[in-house]
Amino acid sequence: MSKQEGKGQENQQQEELLKFPYEIKELEADLNSKLLQTFLGERTGGYVQVGYKNWFLPKKYKQDAKFYYNFKVRSDDVFVVTFPRSGTTWTQEMVWLLSNRLDYKTAKETPLNHRYTFLEFYSLNTDEGFVNLLGRKVTPSWIGLGQESLGKRRFIKSHLPLELLPPDLLCSRAKVVYVARNPKDVVVSYYHFAKANPFYGFDGEFGEFWELFRQNLIHWAPYWEHVKEAWTRRRGNENFLFIFYEDMIKDLKETVNKVSIFLGQSYSSEQLDQLVHHLKFDNFKNNNSVNAFADFRVKLKEGDNNRFIRKGQMGNWHEYFTGNLEKEVEDWIEENLKDTDLRFPI
Ligand code: A3P
Repeated sequence: MSKQEGKGQENQQQEELLKFPYEIKELEADLNSKLLQTFLGERTGGYVQVGYKNWFLPKKYKQDAKFYYNFKVRSDDVFVVTFPRSGTTWTQEMVWLLSNRLDYKTAKETPLNHRYTFLEFYSLNTDEGFVNLLGRKVTPSWIGLGQESLGKRRFIKSHLPLELLPPDLLCSRAKVVYVARNPKDVVVSYYHFAKANPFYGFDGEFGEFWELFRQNLIHWAPYWEHVKEAWTRRRGNENFLFIFYEDMIKDLKETVNKVSIFLGQSYSSEQLDQLVHHLKFDNFKNNNSVNAFADFRVKLKEGDNNRFIRKGQMGNWHEYFTGNLEKEVEDWIEENLKDTDLRFPI
């Protein structure tokens, strides 16, 4: 896209904001204050629920919702969209390298969170909260990705469900990759992350986290609506690719190849092998550039289970969903898969 064309589009965006179509309700007061004692990192005043699916987000999202909804997608944008802890980072690195002629040097030198913009990051904390945690203020993505980024290809990560993203996203020419992961492993991974990460400051046991997850009282919940919406909309949108974390675990080369074709890239089998090697868990976990907290002032808590890139397995849930919890989670899954042909690879 030319600078001129881009400028035109950015101006147009300011003139014609689509009305945000969903109601945004503040969480009931008692529940809100209870959750503020459970998630000690929350600084924006608590939570909101959005639309009839009750998307659960920090309160600050309320003022920003229309900007994400009206975000002007460019034809060369690349999005990675996921429910948290589903393999976002892994996919981001794969997509970035495939889109950038396997430029390992730049990938190593430039932290992943500088190569991608986290679309709704600004809504997760107050200015003061960001200064405390990161040592700097955060620019809203709809500004940071505006004029300044003209002429550059934009790589964007978001955990927002498709419904809250720009309505033309999937029918635009931008490439969108969605990654889904079995919910049992997502819950376990999210639990550790919420405990380790001061942005959440989750102060509780696994059983309590699971209960909140089940009640859709976790950031970016409901999980099922998130994944099922993407699953349904994968049909008929040629610039939208739905992949599974489990498929990446089972045969990474196959997924890398599929994503490469989707992005319109062509690499030799040896080049793909090299990328697979780069992405393998044991290499990936020691790669500072992909550690989301590498250049943050804030650090995750110490300990193996607190690492951002933690176990990287299918089935780690077995250690957590034991006794009654196992039956509970299996029933919950069965209930939620009743109305869909979505099935997680086993
Ligand atoms: P676990 O906590 O189960 O280990 P996200 O990037 O969406 O936050 O997802 C994080 C999850 O993806 C973590 O799961 C992390 O270990 C896993 N992951 C990251 N890189 C991986 C890799 N190269 N191979 C396998 N799993 C990986």
